[in-house]
Amino acid sequence: MDHPDQTTDFGFSDVPLGDKQTLVNDVFHSVAQRYDLMNDLMSAGLHRVWKDIMVNALNPPRNDRPFALLDLAGGTGDVAFRAARLAGKGFAATVCDINPDMLRVGHLRAVSRHLEHQVSFVEGNAEALAFPDRHFDACTIAFGIRNVPRIEVALREAYRVLKPGGRFLCLEFSSVDVPGLDRFYEMFSFKVIPPLGRMVTGDAESYRYLVESIRKFPKPQAFSEMIRAAGFLRVSHQSLSGGIVALHSGWRL
Ligand SMILES: C[S@@+](CC[C@H](N)C(=O)[O-])C[C@H]1O[C@@H](n2cnc3c(N)ncnc32)[C@H](O)[C@@H]1O
Repeated sequence: MDHPDQTTDFGFSDVPLGDKQTLVNDVFHSVAQRYDLMNDLMSAGLHRVWKDIMVNALNPPRNDRPFALLDLAGGTGDVAFRAARLAGKGFAATVCDINPDMLRVGHLRAVSRHLEHQVSFVEGNAEALAFPDRHFDACTIAFGIRNVPRIEVALREAYRVLKPGGRFLCLEFSSVDVPGLDRFYEMFSFKVIPPLGRMVTGDAESYRYLVESIRKFPKPQAFSEMIRAAGFLRVSHQSLSGGIVALHSGWRL
């Protein structure tokens, strides 16, 4: 049973679940303006490659066939913009995020790219989506699920709003499995990212949380089990960049 006093250790060790969301919201409030720049610096631009791999797997129609994408925890809309660039005229993306500051940055970007009719921004909690059942053709979530306090609830919601035949794709940090790279990654995560975060966003603490939450996220096999438990079928995952990131996939059939 979920309970508001239940604690979580996916980052912010041992804080009650309700408090975790407040802390996560503070993190993204604090970094929203410089979030995209920080992504580039932290990943040496690799986040672009990972997101493009996800969007290619999504494979939206290139013609005017209607295709509705829900990009959960979509922040400033990076995944939705990449999908829109690939897709045809029938494509529409809804970027849903709990943080209005991230959404504001994304909406301004949509306007400046003349994409505001294809990419819309909606405030909402991944644990309680305000969308009808069987509504979307696909649901993506990139680097978002580990920030959600009750992951299993968000996975069930993603399943609920997908049409039968719809695909769920999730990009998330994973566990590095290449000898040597694991030590470098650990050092980079704890010694480089927080000071870099302080320099770019003025906030080292938020980036310390992000690094801690990455370490505590379930291993890919365990996360695949959680996806299966939410009802998805044909669940699989693909390790990227030596396991720094994994792309998870499941279908509502
Ligand atoms: C690391 S950012 C990822 C943003 C975007 N998907 C990307 O890859 O650029 C994580 C996002 O998760 C959002 N988030 C955290 N908890 C959430 C929740 N319960 N429901 C919806 N979004 C949430 C944050 O506000 C933040 O924008």
